[in-house]
Amino acid sequence: TKNIGIGLLGLGTVGTGVAQIINSPEGRHPLTSRVELKRIALRDSKKIRALSIPNKLITEDAWEVVEDPDVEIVVEVIGGLEPARSLILKAIKSGKSVVTANKAVIARHGEEIAEAAISSGVYVLIEAAVGGGIPIIEPLKQSLGGNIIQKVTGIVNGTTNYILTRMAKEGADYEAVLKEAQSLGYAESDPMADVEGLDAADKISILSNLAFGGPIKRASVPTKGISTLQNRDVDYANQLGYEVKLLAIAERLASNLENNSSLPLAVRVEPTLLPTGHPLAEVNGVNNAILVEGDPIGEVMFYGPGAGAGPTASAVVADILNIAGIKLMGGEKTSLDPLLSASSWRECHL
Ligand code: HSE
Repeated sequence: TKNIGIGLLGLGTVGTGVAQIINSPEGRHPLTSRVELKRIALRDSKKIRALSIPNKLITEDAWEVVEDPDVEIVVEVIGGLEPARSLILKAIKSGKSVVTANKAVIARHGEEIAEAAISSGVYVLIEAAVGGGIPIIEPLKQSLGGNIIQKVTGIVNGTTNYILTRMAKEGADYEAVLKEAQSLGYAESDPMADVEGLDAADKISILSNLAFGGPIKRASVPTKGISTLQNRDVDYANQLGYEVKLLAIAERLASNLENNSSLPLAVRVEPTLLPTGHPLAEVNGVNNAILVEGDPIGEVMFYGPGAGAGPTASAVVADILNIAGIKLMGGEKTSLDPLLSASSWRECHL
């Protein structure tokens, strides 16, 4: 029987993690052995030597990958706005489903991408875009569907949480720990996106759209990062019984409870003092956590590693397997299929 062909755009931290999982299916979900890397685009093909990937799969031209007839699912892990957005749209128009970890693109162009996916009848899945390895997109889209969501509060940037934790626990130097977070593969290629809160703002925009049916405009999210924070700020907070955390918050204002489709919402990113003992105050290192408050569920918290090759690849591969499963079952959605298609994503959430 035929395998499902994967085209990988990007072989950086996350792309390498994805290739490693796909190439070692033993012990994983049986669908893992039914997906196959057919083409890989990377910026500098000389860098490939360390990984045992056949040369013929490699190209420096990402457009070749999205146009390749053997590729059924395009996995976009190059990051940044362009050419990522255009590559995603091209893949969709060529009838290919897309898995992306690109929060910057989805936060700004999610609606355009969802519309394109509807017309082409393909899937676009984004589990890796928020919270690294933590399952949060699917739960918000589906498992919490019976709730009126009141508030989403998240630590959604691993780099800044790693920095804040090291400053609090060891009095570590901000610049030195940032460098370390970069070398561990946590930070964005431009780490300003992490420390200025922009990455967290992308992520809370996406979560807001899923939780509240948006539309949240990315540009309208007030954003403050941690770059001006001093060790003494963190020290004073600790002495007073608080932890400093970079929180991303989206909350429904009480007045619109009865009218699910009309906003306003309050959405923001800012460093916040949390009393020791608060569940989010105990989230340390590169871990992320998202606290969701809804009616009737009450509070539910999602916790785990929020950045890095392995955790992010874990979420990307789950999306790949979800789409592969549907394709292998003849393209029909079944009760085994835990997905919402891009079209229902839009109908419900954008
Ligand atoms: N730079 C991001 C972070 C990567 O630190 O959380 C995961 O999206």
